[in-house]
Amino acid sequence: MFELPNLISIHDLSRQDIEVILDTSAKMELVAVERSKELSGKIMATLFFEPSTRTRLSFESAMLRLGGSVLGFADIGVTSAGGKGETLADTIRTVERYADVIVMRHPLDGSARVAAEFSKIPVINAGSGAEEHPTQALLDLYSIRKMMRRIDGLTISLCGDLKYGRTVHSLGMALSKYDVKIKLAAPEALRMKPAIIDEMKKSGLDVVEVDTIEEAVRDVDVVYMTRIQKERFPDIREYDAVKGEFRITLHEVGMMRNDAIILHPLPRVDEIDAEVDATPQARYFDQVYNGVVTRMAILSLIFS
Ligand code: CP
Repeated sequence: MFELPNLISIHDLSRQDIEVILDTSAKMELVAVERSKELSGKIMATLFFEPSTRTRLSFESAMLRLGGSVLGFADIGVTSAGGKGETLADTIRTVERYADVIVMRHPLDGSARVAAEFSKIPVINAGSGAEEHPTQALLDLYSIRKMMRRIDGLTISLCGDLKYGRTVHSLGMALSKYDVKIKLAAPEALRMKPAIIDEMKKSGLDVVEVDTIEEAVRDVDVVYMTRIQKERFPDIREYDAVKGEFRITLHEVGMMRNDAIILHPLPRVDEIDAEVDATPQARYFDQVYNGVVTRMAILSLIFS
């Protein structure tokens, strides 16, 4: 029996749970086009204490395609949390009286778990600090499975900001449940947290750390590139020291297998050259659409 009371961390999901979400996402491809009334009468609240384009809008698109309604905010400055110092707990106790599910993005690690503890309605983590972004990892897995026809057996490079990038943390944890080979490629100061490397290795994954983007793109099936998370650096000089160090240009694409793909959670700054967008390997804008069907699946399963 599949139960999804909240979605806070990839650690809350077994591989079997993830497969149910990916299978349901595939079924949502047709529903997304034809639309449905499955969640008619349900209200989704989007509480975005941090900026977002894709996550918030794809959740809203998903809810609307399922016949539900949406309310919320996308700027902490217009809320009583931002303007008057209201606590997260009191915000949640308020919103649970207005909606049936909460989708929340917040700058603090652990915030989604705290929200779920105070909420009587389901909470979905849409990004908590530098810690996790579980629905992004699910849409990333769905994208890999859809584009490569499988996940097991692939070699996947996680590149860029592996320290502050929450998407790679959730994706690394999720890939620990599969039989894949992992390359980790980051500037020295932005390497993956040892705890996540340990988790991958304990799960039996072959994990190697490489020092250059050239090594990262060679002989792999998937290159998962990420932005350096400027907003999370405590000292801007540390950001200036690493920015622009890892970039994919046509030169790196030329080193990739013809059937390999480049994914990116977006937004990008300059880590993938715009000229790469026209290559067959560039699949990150196809990946964006998969956020709609994956989030339709998550909302459907939350209410089922
Ligand atoms: N991938 C992602 O989380 O994008 P947004 O920040 O635009 O939501």
